[in-house]
Amino acid sequence: MKKERDIKHTIGLVPTMGALHQGHISLIHRALAQNHLVVVSIFVNPTQFDKKDDLDNYPRSLDKDMGLLKQVSERIVVFAPSVNEMYGELVVSQAYHFDGLDKVMEGEFRDGQFDGVGTIVETLLRTVAPNKAYFGEKDFQQLQIIKKMVKSKSLPFEIIGCPIEREPHGLAMSSRNERLSPKVRTEAKFIYETLLTAKTKFGTDSAIEIMEWVKLQFEKNTLLDLEYFQIADEDTLTPLLMVQAGRKYRAFIAVYANDVRLIDNLKLN
Ligand code: PAJ
Repeated sequence: MKKERDIKHTIGLVPTMGALHQGHISLIHRALAQNHLVVVSIFVNPTQFDKKDDLDNYPRSLDKDMGLLKQVSERIVVFAPSVNEMYGELVVSQAYHFDGLDKVMEGEFRDGQFDGVGTIVETLLRTVAPNKAYFGEKDFQQLQIIKKMVKSKSLPFEIIGCPIEREPHGLAMSSRNERLSPKVRTEAKFIYETLLTAKTKFGTDSAIEIMEWVKLQFEKNTLLDLEYFQIADEDTLTPLLMVQAGRKYRAFIAVYANDVRLIDNLKLN
Protein backbone atom coordinates (compact mmCIF):
# COMPACT_ATOMS: atom_id res chain seq x y z
CA MET A 1 0.00 0.00 0.00
CA LYS A 2 2.80 2.34 0.93
CA LYS A 3 4.29 1.78 -2.50
CA GLU A 4 1.03 2.73 -4.20
CA ARG A 5 0.70 5.89 -2.16
CA ASP A 6 4.28 6.85 -2.96
CA ILE A 7 3.76 6.68 -6.70
CA LYS A 8 0.26 8.22 -6.69
CA HIS A 9 1.09 11.67 -8.01
CA THR A 10 4.41 11.06 -9.67
CA ILE A 11 5.33 11.46 -13.32
CA GLY A 12 8.02 9.48 -15.13
CA LEU A 13 9.50 10.72 -18.41
CA VAL A 14 10.93 8.42 -21.07
CA PRO A 15 12.54 10.50 -23.86
CA THR A 16 12.77 8.73 -27.23
CA MET A 17 13.18 9.48 -30.92
CA GLY A 18 10.44 6.98 -31.80
CA ALA A 19 10.64 3.85 -33.97
CA LEU A 20 9.97 2.12 -30.68
CA HIS A 21 11.27 -1.38 -29.89
CA GLN A 22 11.51 -3.59 -26.82
CA GLY A 23 14.53 -1.62 -25.55
CA HIS A 24 12.35 1.49 -25.26
CA ILE A 25 9.48 -0.54 -23.85
CA SER A 26 11.70 -1.89 -21.05
CA LEU A 27 12.35 1.71 -19.94
CA ILE A 28 8.62 2.42 -20.08
CA HIS A 29 7.81 -0.62 -17.92
CA ARG A 30 10.35 0.53 -15.35
CA ALA A 31 8.80 4.02 -15.36
CA LEU A 32 5.26 2.57 -15.04
CA ALA A 33 6.35 0.53 -12.02
CA GLN A 34 7.68 3.64 -10.27
CA ASN A 35 5.19 6.35 -11.30
CA HIS A 36 1.51 7.01 -11.62
CA LEU A 37 1.76 8.54 -15.06
CA VAL A 38 4.42 8.03 -17.74
CA VAL A 39 5.13 10.60 -20.42
CA VAL A 40 6.83 9.09 -23.48
CA SER A 41 8.29 11.82 -25.67
CA ILE A 42 8.78 11.05 -29.35
CA PHE A 43 10.93 13.65 -31.05
CA VAL A 44 13.63 13.23 -33.67
CA ASN A 45 16.00 15.89 -32.41
CA PRO A 46 17.68 17.73 -35.32
CA THR A 47 20.54 19.24 -33.30
CA GLN A 48 22.06 15.87 -32.35
CA PHE A 49 22.60 14.78 -35.96
CA ASP A 50 25.80 15.94 -37.60
CA LYS A 51 24.77 14.76 -41.07
CA LYS A 52 21.57 15.97 -42.70
CA ASP A 53 21.23 12.59 -44.46
CA ASP A 54 21.09 10.75 -41.11
CA LEU A 55 18.39 13.09 -39.86
CA ASP A 56 16.35 12.74 -43.06
CA ASN A 57 16.71 8.95 -43.07
CA TYR A 58 15.90 8.45 -39.37
CA PRO A 59 12.89 6.07 -39.21
CA ARG A 60 9.62 7.81 -38.29
CA SER A 61 6.57 5.74 -37.39
CA LEU A 62 4.41 7.81 -35.05
CA ASP A 63 1.11 5.98 -35.73
CA LYS A 64 2.70 2.57 -35.19
CA ASP A 65 4.43 3.82 -32.02
CA MET A 66 1.16 5.20 -30.64
CA GLY A 67 -0.58 1.87 -31.35
CA LEU A 68 2.17 -0.01 -29.53
CA LEU A 69 2.05 2.30 -26.49
CA LYS A 70 -1.72 1.98 -26.30
CA GLN A 71 -1.27 -1.76 -25.82
CA VAL A 72 1.33 -1.29 -23.09
CA SER A 73 -0.70 0.79 -20.63
CA GLU A 74 -3.46 3.37 -20.24
CA ARG A 75 -1.19 5.33 -17.92
CA ILE A 76 1.01 6.50 -20.81
CA VAL A 77 0.77 9.99 -22.29
CA VAL A 78 2.57 10.56 -25.60
CA PHE A 79 4.30 13.91 -26.12
CA ALA A 80 5.27 14.38 -29.76
CA PRO A 81 6.14 18.06 -30.20
CA SER A 82 7.14 19.80 -33.45
CA VAL A 83 10.64 21.18 -34.00
CA ASN A 84 9.18 24.67 -33.66
CA GLU A 85 7.60 23.85 -30.28
CA MET A 86 10.93 22.63 -28.93
CA TYR A 87 13.27 25.18 -30.53
CA GLY A 88 11.29 28.14 -31.84
CA GLU A 89 12.82 29.75 -34.92
CA LEU A 90 16.45 29.09 -34.03
CA VAL A 91 17.23 25.37 -34.26
CA VAL A 92 20.60 25.34 -32.48
CA SER A 93 22.15 23.68 -29.41
CA GLN A 94 23.28 25.34 -26.23
CA ALA A 95 26.94 24.86 -25.32
CA TYR A 96 27.51 22.65 -22.27
CA HIS A 97 30.54 21.73 -20.21
CA PHE A 98 30.48 18.02 -19.58
CA ASP A 99 33.99 17.80 -18.05
CA GLY A 100 35.34 15.89 -21.03
CA LEU A 101 32.64 13.18 -20.92
CA ASP A 102 31.61 14.34 -24.40
CA LYS A 103 35.08 14.26 -25.95
CA VAL A 104 35.71 10.50 -26.02
CA MET A 105 34.19 7.56 -27.91
CA GLU A 106 30.84 8.68 -29.36
CA GLY A 107 31.92 12.32 -29.01
CA GLU A 108 35.32 11.95 -30.61
CA PHE A 109 34.21 11.97 -34.23
CA ARG A 110 30.77 13.53 -33.90
CA ASP A 111 31.37 17.02 -32.64
CA GLY A 112 28.47 18.77 -30.93
CA GLN A 113 26.25 15.69 -30.79
CA PHE A 114 26.05 15.78 -27.00
CA ASP A 115 25.32 19.52 -26.89
CA GLY A 116 22.29 18.62 -29.03
CA VAL A 117 21.31 15.82 -26.65
CA GLY A 118 21.80 18.09 -23.61
CA THR A 119 19.70 20.84 -25.18
CA ILE A 120 16.72 18.64 -26.01
CA VAL A 121 16.82 16.67 -22.76
CA GLU A 122 16.98 19.87 -20.70
CA THR A 123 14.04 21.31 -22.68
CA LEU A 124 12.02 18.09 -22.27
CA LEU A 125 12.76 17.93 -18.53
CA ARG A 126 11.76 21.56 -17.99
CA THR A 127 8.62 21.17 -20.13
CA VAL A 128 7.33 17.91 -18.64
CA ALA A 129 8.76 18.46 -15.12
CA PRO A 130 8.78 14.75 -14.20
CA ASN A 131 9.84 13.31 -10.86
CA LYS A 132 12.09 10.82 -12.61
CA ALA A 133 13.43 10.44 -16.16
CA TYR A 134 14.60 7.11 -17.61
CA PHE A 135 17.53 6.46 -19.97
CA GLY A 136 19.10 3.25 -21.25
CA GLU A 137 22.60 2.04 -20.46
CA LYS A 138 22.69 1.10 -24.15
CA ASP A 139 23.82 4.71 -24.60
CA PHE A 140 25.93 4.73 -21.45
CA GLN A 141 27.93 7.81 -22.40
CA GLN A 142 24.69 9.72 -23.07
CA LEU A 143 23.34 8.59 -19.67
CA GLN A 144 26.45 9.87 -17.85
CA ILE A 145 26.35 13.17 -19.75
CA ILE A 146 22.69 13.71 -18.86
CA LYS A 147 23.42 12.95 -15.19
CA LYS A 148 26.27 15.49 -15.32
CA MET A 149 24.05 18.15 -16.89
CA VAL A 150 21.25 17.67 -14.35
CA LYS A 151 23.74 17.85 -11.48
CA SER A 152 25.64 20.88 -12.75
CA LYS A 153 22.41 22.82 -13.37
CA SER A 154 20.87 21.59 -10.08
CA LEU A 155 17.73 20.45 -11.93
CA PRO A 156 15.23 18.78 -9.57
CA PHE A 157 14.79 15.59 -11.59
CA GLU A 158 16.08 12.13 -10.77
CA ILE A 159 17.85 10.39 -13.66
CA ILE A 160 17.45 6.61 -13.70
CA GLY A 161 19.69 4.34 -15.79
CA CYS A 162 18.12 1.11 -17.08
CA PRO A 163 19.86 -2.10 -18.26
CA ILE A 164 20.40 -2.97 -21.91
CA GLU A 165 17.64 -5.04 -23.50
CA ARG A 166 19.03 -7.65 -25.90
CA GLU A 167 17.78 -9.85 -28.72
CA PRO A 168 17.72 -13.57 -27.79
CA HIS A 169 21.21 -14.18 -29.21
CA GLY A 170 22.67 -11.14 -27.42
CA LEU A 171 22.67 -8.26 -29.91
CA ALA A 172 21.63 -5.04 -28.11
CA MET A 173 18.20 -3.95 -29.34
CA SER A 174 18.19 -0.89 -31.59
CA SER A 175 15.96 0.57 -34.30
CA ARG A 176 18.99 0.19 -36.57
CA ASN A 177 18.88 -3.62 -36.27
CA GLU A 178 15.91 -3.55 -38.68
CA ARG A 179 18.30 -2.36 -41.39
CA LEU A 180 20.53 -5.45 -41.09
CA SER A 181 20.11 -8.40 -43.44
CA PRO A 182 19.09 -11.61 -41.60
CA LYS A 183 22.60 -13.01 -42.12
CA VAL A 184 24.35 -9.93 -40.70
CA ARG A 185 21.83 -9.63 -37.87
CA THR A 186 22.70 -13.15 -36.75
CA GLU A 187 26.43 -12.50 -37.16
CA ALA A 188 26.12 -9.31 -35.06
CA LYS A 189 25.84 -11.46 -31.93
CA PHE A 190 29.63 -11.55 -32.30
CA ILE A 191 29.73 -8.02 -30.82
CA TYR A 192 28.22 -9.11 -27.50
CA GLU A 193 30.17 -12.39 -27.48
CA THR A 194 33.40 -10.40 -27.88
CA LEU A 195 32.43 -8.11 -24.99
CA LEU A 196 31.70 -11.16 -22.82
CA THR A 197 35.10 -12.70 -23.59
CA ALA A 198 36.80 -9.34 -23.00
CA LYS A 199 35.17 -9.37 -19.56
CA THR A 200 36.66 -12.77 -18.74
CA LYS A 201 40.10 -11.41 -19.72
CA PHE A 202 39.69 -8.32 -17.53
CA GLY A 203 41.68 -8.80 -14.34
CA THR A 204 44.32 -11.05 -15.90
CA ASP A 205 45.19 -9.21 -19.14
CA SER A 206 46.02 -5.49 -19.43
CA ALA A 207 43.66 -3.06 -21.18
CA ILE A 208 46.10 -2.82 -24.11
CA GLU A 209 46.25 -6.61 -24.44
CA ILE A 210 42.47 -6.86 -24.41
CA MET A 211 42.18 -4.08 -27.01
CA GLU A 212 44.68 -5.83 -29.27
CA TRP A 213 42.84 -9.12 -28.86
CA VAL A 214 39.49 -7.50 -29.77
CA LYS A 215 41.07 -5.83 -32.84
CA LEU A 216 42.37 -9.19 -34.00
CA GLN A 217 38.96 -10.85 -33.64
CA PHE A 218 37.38 -8.21 -35.87
CA GLU A 219 40.19 -8.41 -38.43
CA LYS A 220 39.20 -12.06 -38.84
CA ASN A 221 35.52 -11.17 -39.21
CA THR A 222 34.52 -10.38 -42.80
CA LEU A 223 31.06 -8.96 -42.06
CA LEU A 224 31.77 -6.55 -39.20
CA ASP A 225 34.20 -3.60 -39.04
CA LEU A 226 35.44 -2.35 -35.69
CA GLU A 227 35.34 1.44 -35.24
CA TYR A 228 36.54 1.49 -31.64
CA PHE A 229 36.87 -0.72 -28.59
CA GLN A 230 37.65 1.04 -25.35
CA ILE A 231 37.85 0.14 -21.68
CA ALA A 232 36.99 3.20 -19.61
CA ASP A 233 36.20 4.36 -16.11
CA GLU A 234 32.39 4.36 -15.66
CA ASP A 235 32.27 7.78 -14.03
CA THR A 236 34.89 9.78 -15.91
CA LEU A 237 34.84 7.75 -19.17
CA THR A 238 38.62 8.18 -19.37
CA PRO A 239 40.41 5.24 -21.02
CA LEU A 240 41.80 2.71 -18.57
CA LEU A 241 45.57 2.84 -18.14
CA MET A 242 45.97 1.08 -14.82
CA VAL A 243 43.22 -0.54 -12.75
CA GLN A 244 42.60 1.40 -9.54
CA ALA A 245 40.95 -0.11 -6.48
CA GLY A 246 37.39 1.03 -5.92
CA ARG A 247 36.85 2.24 -9.51
CA LYS A 248 34.28 0.70 -11.87
CA TYR A 249 35.16 -0.07 -15.47
CA ARG A 250 33.15 -0.78 -18.59
CA ALA A 251 34.01 -1.94 -22.12
CA PHE A 252 32.59 0.14 -24.98
CA ILE A 253 32.40 -0.82 -28.63
CA ALA A 254 31.24 0.65 -31.95
CA VAL A 255 31.03 -1.55 -35.04
CA TYR A 256 29.95 -1.09 -38.64
CA ALA A 257 27.85 -3.76 -40.31
CA ASN A 258 27.93 -2.44 -43.89
CA ASP A 259 26.60 1.10 -43.42
CA VAL A 260 24.81 0.38 -40.14
CA ARG A 261 26.64 1.59 -37.05
CA LEU A 262 26.05 -0.47 -33.89
CA ILE A 263 27.15 0.38 -30.34
CA ASP A 264 27.21 -1.71 -27.18
CA ASN A 265 28.88 -1.80 -23.79
CA LEU A 266 29.38 -4.16 -20.85
CA LYS A 267 30.16 -3.68 -17.18
CA LEU A 268 33.50 -5.33 -16.37
CA ASN A 269 33.66 -5.27 -12.58
P1 PAJ B 1 16.55 6.76 -28.72
O1 PAJ B 1 17.69 6.25 -29.51
O2 PAJ B 1 15.16 6.65 -29.28
O3 PAJ B 1 16.57 6.03 -27.33
C1 PAJ B 1 15.68 6.39 -26.32
C2 PAJ B 1 16.11 5.71 -25.03
O4 PAJ B 1 16.00 4.30 -25.16
C3 PAJ B 1 17.57 6.04 -24.66
O5 PAJ B 1 17.65 6.31 -23.28
C4 PAJ B 1 18.28 4.74 -25.03
O6 PAJ B 1 19.46 4.51 -24.27
C5 PAJ B 1 17.21 3.72 -24.70
N1 PAJ B 1 17.46 2.45 -25.40
C6 PAJ B 1 17.63 2.24 -26.72
N2 PAJ B 1 17.89 0.94 -26.97
C7 PAJ B 1 17.90 0.32 -25.78
C8 PAJ B 1 18.11 -1.04 -25.34
N3 PAJ B 1 18.41 -2.02 -26.22
N4 PAJ B 1 18.04 -1.32 -24.03
C9 PAJ B 1 17.77 -0.35 -23.11
N5 PAJ B 1 17.55 0.95 -23.46
C10 PAJ B 1 17.62 1.27 -24.76
O7 PAJ B 1 18.65 8.15 -27.12
C11 PAJ B 1 17.86 8.83 -27.75
O8 PAJ B 1 16.77 8.32 -28.39
C12 PAJ B 1 17.99 10.33 -27.84
O9 PAJ B 1 19.34 10.69 -27.80
C13 PAJ B 1 17.21 11.10 -26.73
C14 PAJ B 1 17.72 10.76 -25.33
C15 PAJ B 1 15.72 10.79 -26.84
C16 PAJ B 1 17.41 12.63 -26.95
O10 PAJ B 1 16.98 13.01 -28.20
